[in-house]
Amino acid sequence: MKVLGVSGSPIKNSNAYRALKTALEATDMDYEIIKLRDYTVAPCLACLKCVNTNVCVIKDDGIELAQKAKDVDALIIAGYTPYSSLDSRTKAFIERLYPLRHKHGFMRGKPGGAIVTHAIPEGSENLPPAAEYGLNSIFFYMMEEGMEPVGGVKVQGNVPCVRCGYGNECDTSGLSMIFGPDATVEFVGIKRFEEQLEAMNAARELGKKIAEHLKLKKQLGK
Ligand SMILES: Cc1cc2nc3c(=O)[nH]c(=O)nc-3n(C[C@H](O)[C@H](O)[C@H](O)COP(=O)(O)O)c2cc1C
Repeated sequence: MKVLGVSGSPIKNSNAYRALKTALEATDMDYEIIKLRDYTVAPCLACLKCVNTNVCVIKDDGIELAQKAKDVDALIIAGYTPYSSLDSRTKAFIERLYPLRHKHGFMRGKPGGAIVTHAIPEGSENLPPAAEYGLNSIFFYMMEEGMEPVGGVKVQGNVPCVRCGYGNECDTSGLSMIFGPDATVEFVGIKRFEEQLEAMNAARELGKKIAEHLKLKKQLGK
């Protein structure tokens, strides 16, 4: 039994990556963790040439990654939320799993999990629900492929303006957009996954649920 974890965040040692690792470790199973930044994955061409072969015609790393997803028993996808929707690397990876669908439903019945980092805090008025949008993009893929989504994790991440060096003076700072006109870099600070008890527990819970789900499937001989 093996779990594949895929992180779309290009940030080195990002919150998304660390949350994913926490969930994978909580499975207590063999796992492989992949950072999409290290791979080249173009989006689906919608050419339908994978219908008879179950293999994509685009000759990039998407073929290898789809094979990995096919070979494992469970999949956890972690993304981040630029412009409050799922990032394009993670989305392209998901689209490139389409060849696994035709005639066989290779992902059907596999437990799955979703993790997203988001800068806009949940419940912010007059701002998009970034965490919800991100998680749903992953969950909808899993639902439409007949997978069994067992949990989602929302990690409060960082608006890039806390790190860019101009957060306190820039006219278009995301800090004032998200936290109000008086927000400063010092006040907002850097958000770390390890300081978010709820997210840490949710990541561990996700890993445990995946392991339990697979154990039950094995007992039932599925
Ligand atoms: C170009 C860009 C646009 C972003 N736009 C949003 C946004 O609209 N809403 C949001 O919640 N987060 C937004 N973010 C923040 C990312 O979700 C954030 O970088 C994420 O939390 C990952 O960072 P972290 O690992 O430092 O937490 C944006 C980030 C980038 C790089």
